[in-house]
Amino acid sequence: MTMLMNEQTAIGDDALGIEGLSLAIGTGEGAVPLLADVTVTVARGETVGLVGESGSGKSLTARAALGMVPRGSRATGTVVVGGLDVLAAGRRELRELRRTRAAMIFQDPRVSINPVRRIGDYLTEGMRARGVRAKAATARAQELLGQVGIRDPRRALRQYPHEFSGGMLQRVMIAGALSAEPALLLADEPTTALDVTTQAEVIAVLKDLQRVHGTGMLFVTHDLDLAAAICDRVYVMYAGRIVEESAGTSLFQAPAHPYTRALLEASPSVHGDRAAIKAIKGTPRALAETPSGCSFRDRCPLADDVCAAEVPAPRPYGKSLAACHHPEGDGAP
Ligand SMILES: Nc1ncnc2c1ncn2[C@@H]1O[C@H](COP(=O)(O)OP(=O)(O)OP(=O)(O)O)[C@@H](O)[C@H]1O
Ligand code: SF4
Ligand SMILES: [Mg+2]
Repeated sequence: MTMLMNEQTAIGDDALGIEGLSLAIGTGEGAVPLLADVTVTVARGETVGLVGESGSGKSLTARAALGMVPRGSRATGTVVVGGLDVLAAGRRELRELRRTRAAMIFQDPRVSINPVRRIGDYLTEGMRARGVRAKAATARAQELLGQVGIRDPRRALRQYPHEFSGGMLQRVMIAGALSAEPALLLADEPTTALDVTTQAEVIAVLKDLQRVHGTGMLFVTHDLDLAAAICDRVYVMYAGRIVEESAGTSLFQAPAHPYTRALLEASPSVHGDRAAIKAIKGTPRALAETPSGCSFRDRCPLADDVCAAEVPAPRPYGKSLAACHHPEGDGAP
């Protein structure tokens, strides 16, 4: 699904190029598929949203961009970051990639920050590896901690992760990602644990990073309003597949896929409460549960025999690409 890339994109010069990525746990007949044919691109300077219900495969996709796939899994397809073939890369190349060109803000900071190292070491390590002198790296780390709303940055540098709450640690991780000045930033629900004011401040800092360094950002979120506010393009995931890709705000004005429509109808900005996506009829499916046909069919009002028989291929509809046999179901775009 690369047809909707904006004008900044030059083929081969993307911050991130995931093409036809499939991922399965285990081997042979017992293998459980988790992702199927996922294509996601992020141009330099672009903010790309990845939205969808819990368990749809957003984090798996974002992590695969840095070569972090679950133990015992097999990935096929192509993942290219800054010219590096990530799926074929060795440990050393991947470590180098994560230190110098690509950074990730993880959904759960507790499992991704080393608990026995001081925050100062965590924040300055990458800068030191890039040749920044110790004093300058510490000063920059302190400045970044201030920017993400840590009240006493000097003290924080000497502290350990367990001394911080989850929200505070999330800010530390965001500061860490910013310190790398990466060409690609993978932000997995980066602001979910933060209050609204801090969320706005953090988004402003991320946008600033982008403006100064031309960083491409993949922004994973449940929050459709936030995605609408900050993303240039948005991908919608369902059951391990991309079901819609949409340019700009068209996803929110004229959604093509029935699942996207259901997501929007259940979003807080429409209903004015936080019941959010739980309001969609039925429960989300895992990829393995629907080996044939469209995974959304048991929740879709438009499902017919074709939907049960064939996995829908992406096709243009309005300003979107929708993987659906009947995107026109609700009328013209
Ligand atoms: N290490 C793993 N081993 C087995 N299954 C996994 C593993 N990691 C993820 N999965 C499964 O893959 C699917 C997608 O998981 P993923 O974490 O990518 O979802 P997500 O879209 O990020 O959800 P959320 O919004 O809750 O963070 C889920 O069904 C999950 O149970
Ligand atoms: S392919 Fe069929 S079941 Fe799937 S979303 Fe489209 S209309 Fe619904
Ligand atoms: Mg996730």
